[in-house]
Amino acid sequence: MSDQNNNTGQKGKADTDHINGNGAANSQGQSMWGGRFGGGPSAIMQEINASIGFDKRLYREDIAGSKAHSAMLAKAGIISDADRDAIHRGLDQVKAEIEAGQMEFRAELEDIHMHVESRLRELVGDAGARLHTGRSRNDQVATDFRLWTRAAIDQLDTAYVELLSAIVTNAEQYAGAVMPGFTHLQTAQPVTLGHHLMAYYEMLSRDRARLADCRKRVNENPLGAAALAGTSFPIDRHMTSEALGFDRPMANSLDAVSARDFALEFLSVLTISAVHLSRLADEIVLWATSAFRFLKLSDGFSTGSSIMPQKRNPDAAELVRAKVGRIMGAQNGLMMVMKGLPLAYSKDMQEDKEPVFKAVDDFALCLAAMTGMMQDFRPDTEAMKRAAGLGFSTATDLADWLVRVLGLPFRDAHHVTGAVVKEAENRGVDLSDLPLDAMQAVEPRITADVFNVLTVDASVSSRTSFGGTAPANVLAAAKAAKESLK
Ligand code: ARG
Repeated sequence: MSDQNNNTGQKGKADTDHINGNGAANSQGQSMWGGRFGGGPSAIMQEINASIGFDKRLYREDIAGSKAHSAMLAKAGIISDADRDAIHRGLDQVKAEIEAGQMEFRAELEDIHMHVESRLRELVGDAGARLHTGRSRNDQVATDFRLWTRAAIDQLDTAYVELLSAIVTNAEQYAGAVMPGFTHLQTAQPVTLGHHLMAYYEMLSRDRARLADCRKRVNENPLGAAALAGTSFPIDRHMTSEALGFDRPMANSLDAVSARDFALEFLSVLTISAVHLSRLADEIVLWATSAFRFLKLSDGFSTGSSIMPQKRNPDAAELVRAKVGRIMGAQNGLMMVMKGLPLAYSKDMQEDKEPVFKAVDDFALCLAAMTGMMQDFRPDTEAMKRAAGLGFSTATDLADWLVRVLGLPFRDAHHVTGAVVKEAENRGVDLSDLPLDAMQAVEPRITADVFNVLTVDASVSSRTSFGGTAPANVLAAAKAAKESLK
């Protein structure tokens, strides 16, 4: 393409002709890379090669990257200011056209990079043809993908704040609500619902921190690495880094175009995070069963059964629980794509984007659904408290009393308590309902003071150790969390 006048107004020449086409064509029928090719690619070649079906999601990032690149080329005197201005004008129009649904996506233009550039050349001619100076699709795609991932991380972070806020609001409200704490899903010791929810606050906050940490390694600029070796043009990679909000240019051009560990790490973080959401989701499923009755599912986040009119199903929670499979599948898939790839770019790496896009879509939906469920959270605190007293849940409190008041070694106290529990079990009563003389038959020095520690409320209130379940602790933790989310 040499004459700007030839570049306007002709659309679609290379649209349909796979056989006689000339490589990846622009809409003037001129190939982007077909200079040394005689015949064009077969239809199957185009089909397996094209990534436009999914990488069109990168159009914003592609255009932003091209603007930064062309601004830098002009500043460095590699293209004229007039060319830069024409390129920027053209790119704005390409963006507007894509957003208006006017861009026709075609397999023969392979990917989003060639679609944008091809249309730019139609719009602004030679200036557009100068855009690709000192650049390759290899550094271009790595740049676009990093920008996209960074934006995704930022959106997920915002979503996390909403979810964590909903969790903390409930934790504050239920700071003193007693429920059974479990180990092995057997009643262990009473805890508060607020404490249980704050456990998820901690877990999910670590996921959020992992995302932020991963963002640091995402936010490095590959642009200017060109195909793999750098370029002979006097480019300024610091300038494009700053323009695109990257922390720094990547130090090694081969690494810059080959590295996908930012995506692998991101998917790994999403996998861990999805595992955590699945645990909370599972507790919602469990708590909403008629065996537990800890929770009433809201209309907004449950469904009915087509045959059993009494049913209310926790579908949203079940699907959050399930999505981890797809997210981990995406992570595994990309690990396998990258395994054993030699430096530098290989086309295999085109398969990096779909798993990330899919995992982000799935995970964002999980966060939104979990936020909704937490906002609609309606526990039955009475049922929880009743259940908290079952299973001799204050047995440890009795053992601790024997240590504290009678000075028994803990192991002996454990043994005495076991015998007391056995007696309560024989009589079919809770520990707090066992008569004093029955306890004294096991250990004569036990006094009526012991009843002060055998209720579930006394049990949780006594657990004031740092990080313990005492309502005062939980309230303070929830308040501090609320502050930090502001
Ligand atoms: N669509 C390609 C990808 O996603 C862009 C890079 C193409 N580079 C190349 N040398 N063919 O990876």
